[in-house]
Amino acid sequence: WPAIAADVAAIERLKRERNAVILGHNYQAPEVFNTVADIVGDSLALAREAVKVDADVIVLAGVHFMAETAKLLSPDKTVLIPDAEAGCSLAESITPADIRLLRQRYPGVPVVTYVNTSAAVKAESDYCCTSGNAVKVVRHVAREWGVDRILMLPDEYLAQNVQREVPEIELIAWKGHCEVHERFTPQDIRDLRESHPGVVVLAHPECPPEVVAEADFAGSTAAMADYVDAERPGRVVLITECSMADNVSVAHPEIEFVRPCNLCPHMRRITLPKIRTALETMSRAVEIDPAVADRARAAVERMLAIR
Ligand code: 13P
Ligand code: SF4
Repeated sequence: WPAIAADVAAIERLKRERNAVILGHNYQAPEVFNTVADIVGDSLALAREAVKVDADVIVLAGVHFMAETAKLLSPDKTVLIPDAEAGCSLAESITPADIRLLRQRYPGVPVVTYVNTSAAVKAESDYCCTSGNAVKVVRHVAREWGVDRILMLPDEYLAQNVQREVPEIELIAWKGHCEVHERFTPQDIRDLRESHPGVVVLAHPECPPEVVAEADFAGSTAAMADYVDAERPGRVVLITECSMADNVSVAHPEIEFVRPCNLCPHMRRITLPKIRTALETMSRAVEIDPAVADRARAAVERMLAIR
């Protein structure tokens, strides 16, 4: 604890000196999420905050694609990622060349890419989406473009889960998976229901569709947190990265959180000492090739313009 307190105090002082704000994803470890993070949320909320936050410096306590998205939307600010190796299996699963090949194979079919991708991949896309707005984005694109087929990349399971909501549109998927959510199975959910009678099961849409089918509700990390706030189930399990339950449970001591634990190793790379070093040295700034930045920003801004 003394080490944590010293890092927190140093980070708070550095935030004032640098005029910095820390954006924290819902999967951050509690010692980051509940201490130095100024604004917390899902990928969509963090993207929106990056546009409006009043600061010279943004520290993105999350993974690299989130820091890139913040930099795209706030190009004049310094955006720091405390560990540049904090990646994402989905972002790794597809390259800009893959998208160019898919466009040749499916001429005229619009490309919607998940926010969990590199800026270079976003630059090849027509629209970006997050788990919080994917259904809305594909409906919008189908309507605006007058099409009934959309390439939805790279998360195969997200595409399949969204497909169930939009049977009128054919979603063509890719084979990318989240290494955390792909590990959950339908049997896990059935076992949890048996061992914890009455448990309410909330799942992230990056889970396989057979897992989502066993859940009571599926939604982004923010949607799951909102569900708990609104419904206050007596017993709940969040089928997602396990720091989520640690963070949501702080405000709900009355709720029993059942805790299977799948950790995201990339999110775990972000620690208080690394945040402190990033702010001390200002050496972990995200830069995006200007040749891709404008096109990538356009895909993200088209998403944010959809209300
Ligand atoms: P959310 O957009 O729901 O926060 O999800 C981000 C993510 O990386 C999930 O694995
Ligand atoms: Fe990527 Fe999965 Fe980690 Fe989210 S939980 S950052 S999708 S690897």
